[in-house]
Amino acid sequence: MPHPDITLPRLMAHRGLSSRAPENTLAAVRAAHDAGCSWVELDVQLLGDGTPVIWHDAGIRRCSDGRGRLADLSLPAARRLDVGAWFSDTFRGECIATLDEMLRLVVELDMGLNLELKVNRGRSAAALVEAAVPATLEALAPQRLIVSSFNDEALSHTRQLASPSRLALGVLFEGIGRGWQNRCAGLTPYSIHADWRRLNRRGARAVKENGYALLCYTPNDPTAFAHRWQWGVDTAISDDPGRFQGFLDEG
Ligand code: G3P
Ligand code: MG
Repeated sequence: MPHPDITLPRLMAHRGLSSRAPENTLAAVRAAHDAGCSWVELDVQLLGDGTPVIWHDAGIRRCSDGRGRLADLSLPAARRLDVGAWFSDTFRGECIATLDEMLRLVVELDMGLNLELKVNRGRSAAALVEAAVPATLEALAPQRLIVSSFNDEALSHTRQLASPSRLALGVLFEGIGRGWQNRCAGLTPYSIHADWRRLNRRGARAVKENGYALLCYTPNDPTAFAHRWQWGVDTAISDDPGRFQGFLDEG
């Protein structure tokens, strides 16, 4: 099955360069670009009014000056949040990024995007896919995009919108356990994304023997991670990819 002609980087910045800038913001993507990263991983979900925004948690407390649930916010209310000051004064005044704004920045910086469809508890996978995926497909060339999710409904709905040659799909796993391939049936995924701490040699080999790209989240210790390269891991999605420079040749 032909997939988009993606040149996967060895390192991808998780939530943007989230070790140096507030996660999932425009500033974090600019920081990733400035640090030499060619791809970023970002999370997308919907505000209460249906606007797709770049955000990880169900709540807004951890990464903003507000309180409550993302699902209860309209865009004007979300815009009033400061999503940078929690990280450091340098980023005070940073606004929540809509998906549209973020796509424009990714295009402007000529980067690749691993967009994680984040379906938090009680939220609609279908609504997220319908709001986020068509705009993303329109903005980014196939070789610059992976759409990934833990959520099987989001993945299958996404696949209905774009063929394997048009869209690389990534299936997110915690561990690669027995029966892992059942989740891939009918999706024709491009890649498998696994928690690096739960990946073992057998699981990595099975993924590679089945022809999938293998990405690992979220290693930040290059020494502890080093032997995973030998297992065939293609890409590490890290908060701090710069730490891994100099360790890549060990694979
Ligand atoms: O997409 C990989 C990784 O981001 C999955 O976990 O919780 O950081 O979104 P999380
Ligand atoms: Mg994520």
